[in-house]
Amino acid sequence: MSEHKNTDLTVTDGSNELDRFPDPGMPEHKLRMADKDPKAAKRAEAQVVILFLISIVGTIAMLIAYFTIRPDGTTESVRNANLALGLGLFFALMGIGLAAVHWAKTLMSDHEKSEERHPQRSSDEVREAAVAVLKEGAEDSGIARRGVLKGAVVTALALFPLTIVVPLISSIGGDWDIAKFKHTIWRRGTRLAIDPTGKLLKPEDITIGSIVHVIPDVPAEERNSHHWITEKAKAIVLLVRLDQSELKEAPDRKSWSYDGIVAYSKICTHVGCPVALYERQTHHLLCPCHQSTFDVADGAKVVFGPAKRPLPQLPIMVDDEGYLVAQSDFDEPVGPSYWERLK
Ligand code: FES
Repeated sequence: MSEHKNTDLTVTDGSNELDRFPDPGMPEHKLRMADKDPKAAKRAEAQVVILFLISIVGTIAMLIAYFTIRPDGTTESVRNANLALGLGLFFALMGIGLAAVHWAKTLMSDHEKSEERHPQRSSDEVREAAVAVLKEGAEDSGIARRGVLKGAVVTALALFPLTIVVPLISSIGGDWDIAKFKHTIWRRGTRLAIDPTGKLLKPEDITIGSIVHVIPDVPAEERNSHHWITEKAKAIVLLVRLDQSELKEAPDRKSWSYDGIVAYSKICTHVGCPVALYERQTHHLLCPCHQSTFDVADGAKVVFGPAKRPLPQLPIMVDDEGYLVAQSDFDEPVGPSYWERLK
C-alpha cells in the first residue's frame, strides 16, 4: 500500500532567499493498478518473468550462434554471424533492462518521501538508517516472496556474463599467429581500386584535397577466398592528393608519392581503429577512437593523441596504362605498434 505525505507550507520573514518561496508540496499520489488490484500485481509479475525469460533465451541463442555460425571469410558470412551474435546480445540485454524497469515501475515500493537537503556527509545515525532503508527496499521488492521472479532474475543475471566470458575463454588457444600481420597483399604492380565499387584509379581522378578509400584490385578468385575479408581489412589505404609544394617528404621517400598523391594505411597505429576524418586545410587525418591525429603532408607523423608512430605509407606509381599501382607492400607492419614490440 502506498502512502503520501504532504510537507507543511511554511512561510517565514523572507530573510532567507529560499524562504520566500512556499514549498508547494507534492502532487496527489495516484495508486498504481498493481497497488490496488492483486490480479494486476500478478500480471505485472508474470510480465517481468517473461522479460527475464527473453533475456535467458537471448543469452542461450547468442552462445549457440557463437559456436555454430562460423564465418568462412566472405563478407556475407561475417555479416550473418555478426547479425546472429548481435541479436542474441540485444535480447539478452534488452530483457534484463526492460524487466528491471517494469519491475521497478509496477511492483517495487511506490512510497513518496520528501527530504530536506543536508550536509553531504551524513551522521552515523543517518547512515545506519540508510542501510535500514535499503534493507527495507529489498524487503519491499518482494523478491523473497516471489519465488518464480527470484528464479528468473537470478538465472538471467547469472547467464548473461557467459555472453562475454565464453567468447573470451574460447579464444584462448585460437589463431594468434602474428606473422600474418607483418605483410599485406599489396605487391608491385597491384592496381588501386576504390572501396567498395572496385573502380580503378588514375591520377587525374583524384582532385587536390580529396580523400579516397582504396583496396588492392585482385582477381575474382582471391576476392571470393575465405581470407579475403581479413586481407582486405589489413590492406585498406587512404589516398590523398595535396599540392606538391605542401608535401614534406623524407629524401628516401620522394619517389613514394605520385604528383602530390600519397597513400597511407587506414589502420590507426594506436589500437587499430579506422582513421577516417580528413581536414583539408591542415592536412590532418583524425582517428575518431582516441583522437590521434596524423599530418598527411609530413609523412603521416603523429601530431596529437596516443598513437606512437606514423601511419605506414604505401609507395605508389603509375603503370603503362596510366593506372595508379603499388610499388611494393608496406615496408613495415600496419596497425597497432605493439606488433613491433613482439618482433
Ligand atoms: S585507435 Fe586511433 S587513436 Fe586510438
